[in-house]
Amino acid sequence: MKLAIIYDSKTGNTAQCGQWIAEGAAKVEGVEAKCFAIESVDEDFVKEAGGVILGSPSYYALMTANLRTWLLERGGKLNLAGKLGGAYATEQYTHGGGDLVIQSILTNEMALGMLCYSSGGAFGHPVIHLGPVGVNHNKEKVCLEDFKDYFTIYGERFAAKAAELFQ
Ligand SMILES: Cc1cc2nc3c(=O)[nH]c(=O)nc-3n(C[C@H](O)[C@H](O)[C@H](O)COP(=O)(O)O)c2cc1C
Repeated sequence: MKLAIIYDSKTGNTAQCGQWIAEGAAKVEGVEAKCFAIESVDEDFVKEAGGVILGSPSYYALMTANLRTWLLERGGKLNLAGKLGGAYATEQYTHGGGDLVIQSILTNEMALGMLCYSSGGAFGHPVIHLGPVGVNHNKEKVCLEDFKDYFTIYGERFAAKAAELFQ
């Protein structure tokens, strides 16, 4: 089963988190996870995928204009309806709007007919309510690497659910 991770990323953080999700997803047997920047999406791969995860940096607590534009222009043409949909975000500050970014992406996914999934609290810790958020720097001096586990675990949980539904 194919799983596509599509992101917008200017300085590499959201791309890195997408790689971590793919790493986790690859632990599920039969899952082929691939990452794509929105500028170079393999649309045939996406059309065949059972699951699609979208990622964005927080730009003033919203997804980037580029991702929103890509969704508006390409979203309807990728047979996304009925696929499992997920979302993740990166941000600079702990309270920088990551959850809002995820929520707006999930809203777009639902509008396109996708089945949204995060794993929530179903597997205990770490609880991932809407999707994982990576923080790259803040007053507590955390760095993006400190969030790696959340992304790999989310990737594995998401891929397991997608495989259960579509493999
Ligand atoms: C125009 C702009 C707006 C941003 N707005 C926010 C914000 O509202 N909250 C936040 O925590 N970080 C904000 N950031 C920081 C980015 O979300 C953060 O560094 C992100 O990890 C960058 O992702 P990338 O490396 O994939 O481009 C902003 C950055 C830019 C360039």
